[in-house]
Amino acid sequence: MADNATMLQLNADPNFHFGLLRPMALSVYDGADISEVLMAARDIVPGDFESFAGAFASIANRVYERAKGILSKKFPVSARTAFFSAATYFRSADFYLHGNPGDPRIMDFWAKQTDAFDRGLALLETPARRVTVKTSDFDIPGIWMRPDDQVKRRPTIIMGNGYDGAQEEMYHVFGLAALERGYNVLTYEGPGQPTVRRHQELGFIPDWERVVTPLVDHVLEMTDHVDADAIGLLGLSFGGYQAPRAAAFEHRLAAVMAIDGVWDFGDMIHRSFGPELMAIHAAGNKTRFDEIAQKFLQPSAPTDLRWGLEQGMWSFKTRSPFDFATLVSNYTLAEVAHLVRTPTFVGDAEGDAQFKGQPPLLAAALGRWGHLHAFKNDDAIGTHSGIGALKQQSAVVLDWFQGILDAKQRRK
Ligand SMILES: *[C@@H]1O[C@H](CO)[C@@H](O)[C@H](O)[C@H]1NC(C)=O
Ligand SMILES: *[C@@H]1O[C@H](CO)[C@@H](O)[C@H](O)[C@H]1NC(C)=O
Ligand SMILES: *[C@@H]1O[C@H](CO)[C@@H](O)[C@H](O)[C@H]1NC(C)=O
Repeated sequence: MADNATMLQLNADPNFHFGLLRPMALSVYDGADISEVLMAARDIVPGDFESFAGAFASIANRVYERAKGILSKKFPVSARTAFFSAATYFRSADFYLHGNPGDPRIMDFWAKQTDAFDRGLALLETPARRVTVKTSDFDIPGIWMRPDDQVKRRPTIIMGNGYDGAQEEMYHVFGLAALERGYNVLTYEGPGQPTVRRHQELGFIPDWERVVTPLVDHVLEMTDHVDADAIGLLGLSFGGYQAPRAAAFEHRLAAVMAIDGVWDFGDMIHRSFGPELMAIHAAGNKTRFDEIAQKFLQPSAPTDLRWGLEQGMWSFKTRSPFDFATLVSNYTLAEVAHLVRTPTFVGDAEGDAQFKGQPPLLAAALGRWGHLHAFKNDDAIGTHSGIGALKQQSAVVLDWFQGILDAKQRRK
């Protein structure tokens, strides 16, 4: 167990600790029950990806069967919360499986998470609906949610997940918190993200405005429901690159929230490969690079490195570590941050070792548009993406968003 850990660890493998804290954290926003996650945790062996998948598949199936047996006519919430929990556990079961893109469980667990989540959505007091926003290059799946049935123009937050997360997870991480505050919510997934990667076979693209601009067009069409002067864009994790990147080219947003700020995604990946391997990359020897990088893909490799590379190659859609290292070089805000003209919240999580130092670089480059906010370990909110501290995180971020809207209103 890492002796610098700031909280009790749920597994001796620090990556698995995070993988367990993540679903458990959703319990405060209708996405899990704590003892179910702890029960799965009991059977998970450090570094053993199969044990992780198996433990969560088992609890997911069990909770899903229980959910189906609940009479939803009596209290819809009873079945809803169980279906949402089952969806969360199916996502966790899938999480460590992407090293073998042909693994049938990747599609199977996803179909099950989607089905369970949709059964939950249908039982919301104001049911949400799935939408598909078409572009010339790809389709963007979204979920459109309103706080209630009233026809009224309201602030709207467009929310996207990151390197490895689903839009369904966004409902629990920030969506429900935003609905409680009276905002509309549109969650979505772009290329590289779970559903688009699976069903359209598309990997990540750096120019994320190709995803966000069609979404802004889409919400602006809903003139009865959307206040055109109060559209926010929120990006979680790798979304902390995507949201500011899109805002450099999309100027109709009132505010951007990067949770947390990412300045140069490629730099983080290149550091994880280490200087020796990156020297081989610079010299262009792909054969050699890919040979040596195999060591990161062995079960004996630290989970952070193995999972990071497996997930990266899957979501960027390549089988070559060398090509992955090349592709990620495009994911920097250095050339475009100066084009942002929108107030931008840049979270800076103290305990996020991988991105340490990046949020201040982003905030500095944004100049007067950047608002750097330190999330501190002592406040129990230092973890990557605020995982485990969702109540506190949504309070801080959504208060900031409302403050931006209020200031804009006063200037009118
Ligand atoms: C690339 O590395 C391989 C060893 O993996 C070596 O045989 C080959 O000569 C190298 N190519 C160049 C151009 O250095
Ligand atoms: C990616 O980077 C390369 C090399 O810098 C550049 O030619 C290309 O246009 C970039 N692609 C995108 C989509 O930004
Ligand atoms: C904790 O210590 C380990 C081992 O020294 C290190 O790899 C890790 O990055 C540290 N974590 C944090 C959050 O500083």
